[in-house]
Amino acid sequence: MLTVAVLISGTGSNLRALLDAAADPGYPARIVVVGADREAEGFAHAEEYGIPTFLVPWREFDTRDEWGAELAAQLAVWQPDLVVLSGLMRLLPPAVVEAWAPRIVNTHPAYLPEFPGAHAVRDALEAGVVQTGASVIVVDDGVDTGPIVAQERVPVLPGDDLHSLHERIKPVERSLLIDVVRRIATGELDLAAASTTS
Ligand code: GRF
Repeated sequence: MLTVAVLISGTGSNLRALLDAAADPGYPARIVVVGADREAEGFAHAEEYGIPTFLVPWREFDTRDEWGAELAAQLAVWQPDLVVLSGLMRLLPPAVVEAWAPRIVNTHPAYLPEFPGAHAVRDALEAGVVQTGASVIVVDDGVDTGPIVAQERVPVLPGDDLHSLHERIKPVERSLLIDVVRRIATGELDLAAASTTS
């Protein structure tokens, strides 16, 4: 059974999808802890499932490295097999990435390498593209530059705004993420191999 830690910052809809999937006894992974850099709404999903949570408040640390060190210390308590960044709106310090790579994946609401960074949905809208997408990558110490392990196209429709487009992307992210975690758990997806062949 693959143990998973999920890190969030926001509503945690992707986290909720993973929690719901992991509630199925046939799903080969379980969420053991949920962490965040702020009082995330998504904690409510973890609490509903009785999953422990931890908070490493970004604003209480002077540097990214100090914040990252506390985050790593919290993860070390749980020793998950896999760390999933799902809506974590912080770049991890290199020391944390080095410690966990390649057992750390991230969901991104664009068809990488298109539109990396924190404003992917807005950037796609502003670019006027007719399609964008969702991606799951292995985290490296770049910004959304890690090896792509799953991605799918999502149409941009006339009249789309930030909310409507993001809400069309998120279900695709969720299905990709649930499948990627399953494939990691069954050994079908080898993150080490994915990290070296890219
Ligand atoms: C997701 O689209 C994620 O890829 C991006 O922010 C969104 C988080 O949504 N980084 P939620 O918190 O899972 O609802």
